[in-house]
Amino acid sequence: MCSIIGYSGDDIAAPIIVKGLRRMEYRGYDSVGVATESNNQIELKKGVGKVEEVNSKVNLEQLPGKIGIGHTRWATHGKVTDANAHPHPSTSGKIAIVHNGIIENFVELKENLKNEGFIFQSDTDSEVIANLLQKNFELSKNVKDAMLKTISELKGHYSFIAMFENGQLAAARFHEPLIIGVGKNNYFLSSDVLGFIEQTDEAIYMDNGNFAIINQDQIQILDFQGNEIKPEITKVSKEFADVYKGDYAHFTLKEISEQPETIFKAGENTKNSIKAVSDYLKHSRNIYLTGSGTSYNASLVAKYLLAKYAKIKSESIISSELQFSPDSIEPNSIVIAISQSGESADVLEAVNIAKKNDCKIISIINSMTSTLSRESDIVIGMNCGPEIGVAATKSFTSQLIILYKIIQELNGDVEIDLDEISSSISKILEEHNNIKKIANALKEISDIYVLGRGIHYPIAIESALKIKELTYIHAEGIAGGELKHGPLALMDDNVFVIIINPEDSTYQDTLTSAREIKARGAKIIGISDKESDAYDYWVKIPKTSELTYPIAETIPIQLLSYYCALEKDTDPDYPRNLAKSVTVK
Ligand code: AGP
Repeated sequence: MCSIIGYSGDDIAAPIIVKGLRRMEYRGYDSVGVATESNNQIELKKGVGKVEEVNSKVNLEQLPGKIGIGHTRWATHGKVTDANAHPHPSTSGKIAIVHNGIIENFVELKENLKNEGFIFQSDTDSEVIANLLQKNFELSKNVKDAMLKTISELKGHYSFIAMFENGQLAAARFHEPLIIGVGKNNYFLSSDVLGFIEQTDEAIYMDNGNFAIINQDQIQILDFQGNEIKPEITKVSKEFADVYKGDYAHFTLKEISEQPETIFKAGENTKNSIKAVSDYLKHSRNIYLTGSGTSYNASLVAKYLLAKYAKIKSESIISSELQFSPDSIEPNSIVIAISQSGESADVLEAVNIAKKNDCKIISIINSMTSTLSRESDIVIGMNCGPEIGVAATKSFTSQLIILYKIIQELNGDVEIDLDEISSSISKILEEHNNIKKIANALKEISDIYVLGRGIHYPIAIESALKIKELTYIHAEGIAGGELKHGPLALMDDNVFVIIINPEDSTYQDTLTSAREIKARGAKIIGISDKESDAYDYWVKIPKTSELTYPIAETIPIQLLSYYCALEKDTDPDYPRNLAKSVTVK
């Protein structure tokens, strides 16, 4: 998603802004730009491409001045072009803005502004903010009043930073992230702490519906009614600064490889919360789980585990769907929201609906300082460190471990052996040469199906998501028993099917499905602790307990997707069209 950044301080702004943008690259984007102010003049450079490319083409870093704004754009309104890249100047060129989010009423606003003589140079919704600010600033001659009037006219979800030619910065937050970094002689505005963590670890997490005005070394925070707010400074964990690949070729491989260690940290330091969660679950009539993408898939595992091991019924709801059936949530229920970033707009919206229904919000989050964290009654931390690769890997296994810990709290007979899980992951990681060979066989294939039963069905869905994201190959997760109800029609010798088949209660039925598929000519990749002649390729996983299998099965598919991405020459860290934090609905 778009990242915005602003700087005001004693140092030259442009190199600091470019550095911040580089650190937020993982969020996903297609174009980049920087504007700075010097001697009461705004200068601006931008273009399509990665930060490195655009910087070497137009020298973003050489813009003059100690105040500036920057942006990486993930296109929503208007094609990926230089003109649509941010920052956008107002018609007079005296104000420039960067924006993350969507201005829903931009069509009317643009029409009115055009009728008043304002000129637009892009197809974006964002440009209306620059021209509205110009209009309102010309009327009031005052940044605060111009901001208040502009905000009152905007509809949608946004965070934006405006730079005025007099050197003032103003930034507003409405349902999109915006954090202020507080340095010794400078201020930073950013979508993510990563934008400034190398410069300062002191931050002000702006509340929704607040805006800030930075005038050299003075900061003022106000709400959308114009009332002054006392800023609260928080210390950000330095762990967030660790966003380097080290010896790994890609973040994705690094993050897959970290899992033997990260699983030990999941839910740590939040043991009391796990106890509190289990108490709530025992006493609540209605329990819902929600999330998007991988986090939703984790919720499907949770639903299975709660029913089987704690005899607790729950319902998993795709976060983006809840707004279309808000009545499917009973008032005064428990809602468990799962989110790596804690910033997914769909999840925040679902939580908002749940809160309106007086539900208790329990969150499982990696980014503990996120918006979701602040919206929740209880928060359990994944603690797996920054996940930069767009495809969720280590966060998924951490989510599963936390869910296992909750189940263990609910049912003392459930045993989780983290050492066993960790060593299973390590053994599978050692199998990478076999997995590389299979990845090579998959590179020309256009359809992959992943089949699993019981607890392995959500893993099949998650596996298909990983394959799609990283390899751009069409993939689909199928519940084994559903094969004969439709998908069998698709099986022929152009298809590969991954069979998730550990030797547990699902084994025989799934093996039968594998044979039925093989009889139709499809190639079978068996993920199992037991070899079979049904498999054209066998990925061996260690023999373990039922709770370890979902994690053990996930690792080979993460590796397979990663190596297949390399075979297909796609970028595993930044898959096309995708963003790490999906902060727009
Ligand atoms: C997973 O590989 C995806 N990149 C995506 O589906 C992700 O899980 C989803 O956007 C939810 O993100 P969150 O966990 O940060 O809320």
